[in-house]
Amino acid sequence: MHDIFSGGFLDLVVFCLLSLLFYIFYCAPGRKPYLYYTSSSFTDYVIKRCPRLGQPFQPAPVATNRHLQTLLPGFLPRPSVVVEREYVDLPDGGCCALDWVVQSGPFCCRNGDGGMPVFIVLPGLTGDARSASHLCSFALERGYRPVVFNKRGHGGSRLKTPKVQSFGDPDDFRVVVEYIHSKYPDALLTAFGSSAGSGLLVSYLGEYGRECIISFAVLVSPGYDAEFLFKNCIRHPYDFLLVSMLKNVLNQNRDILAKTVDMDKVMQAKSLITIEQELYCTLYGYSSMDEYWKHNNPVRNPTNISIPVLAISSLDDPICTKECIQYSLFSDKMNHSILVTTEQGGHCGFLEGWRFDHWADKIGLDYLDAALEFHNSSQ
Ligand SMILES: *[C@@H]1O[C@H](CO)[C@@H](O)[C@H](O)[C@H]1NC(C)=O
Ligand SMILES: *[C@@H]1O[C@H](CO)[C@@H](O)[C@H](O)[C@H]1NC(C)=O
Repeated sequence: MHDIFSGGFLDLVVFCLLSLLFYIFYCAPGRKPYLYYTSSSFTDYVIKRCPRLGQPFQPAPVATNRHLQTLLPGFLPRPSVVVEREYVDLPDGGCCALDWVVQSGPFCCRNGDGGMPVFIVLPGLTGDARSASHLCSFALERGYRPVVFNKRGHGGSRLKTPKVQSFGDPDDFRVVVEYIHSKYPDALLTAFGSSAGSGLLVSYLGEYGRECIISFAVLVSPGYDAEFLFKNCIRHPYDFLLVSMLKNVLNQNRDILAKTVDMDKVMQAKSLITIEQELYCTLYGYSSMDEYWKHNNPVRNPTNISIPVLAISSLDDPICTKECIQYSLFSDKMNHSILVTTEQGGHCGFLEGWRFDHWADKIGLDYLDAALEFHNSSQ
């Protein structure tokens, strides 16, 4: 009896000590993010106003692994939000859906307050208002008017024409931004893109240069050079996972898409690059994939971007891997822009502490607060 007790007790002590050591070495210290930028009055101001940028990012102790950081957000409970959907007609007869997140708990946006900054969310490959509800709820709490942009046929919307928008074609998004501006002419527009959504956002900013009416943008886990990314970095199981999720979205409009593309072939695709080829490249009538990338690669035009951008990338991202990060964009091509990298965080994960706080969302909103403050003070 005595032996069993002391043996069990010793095991317990050893287990606790090992756990403590594991926690101290792998979780506790966290690392400060690294910042890459060229100093300007704007960058100096926002960095000073975002103290979180100088503090360690502390990955959630049960999710120090990059795959857990990447996959776990999909399984965490989401805040319940009130969403109002609106359809915006596009010049070619198609339409896309906007989801305005108007209430979350005690926070809501009043229709009268037209000056409230608008927070446009461009979710990942198959994301929607549901998957972005945490971010939207947080933006609402911080005094923004959040709205989620759903590409044609995404977010559970029906296609009106047999066309979906390719990876880096910003035309639909441009129409939507102009519509939002006409609806709230007194409000500044900000945008927050995650993963594929950040690629679309950068395409828009590069293609419309000084004509773009978004004032500040945040990119989380961007792919930078998508051609390089698709060919060299995205691997199984993520390639398979992303393809399955995308096929699931496309399948909801299969009948109408079948009028212009061979949907059987699309549905058999086993990699994202095959879908780009069989679906988007075919739909747009490009003669080759080289031609396709010339019009779709988000970083095709970085020096034309006229607004400040904050990009957040994790060095352990298993999808947009660190080989893809283009540091030179932030040193000499994109004026007033800042790149933040962390050692850990996975792809669009950045779950922090025991409460799984969304660190990248906080950094993004801190940044936008500071940027708007700078803008208002220099008016
Ligand atoms: C750069 O931006 C301008 C608007 O400022 C636009 O007219 C032009 O087409 C853009 N250039 C390219 C190569 O996309
Ligand atoms: C970026 O800064 C350089 C040097 O100050 C300037 O020549 C260039 O026009 C700027 N680009 C944009 C898009 O504002």
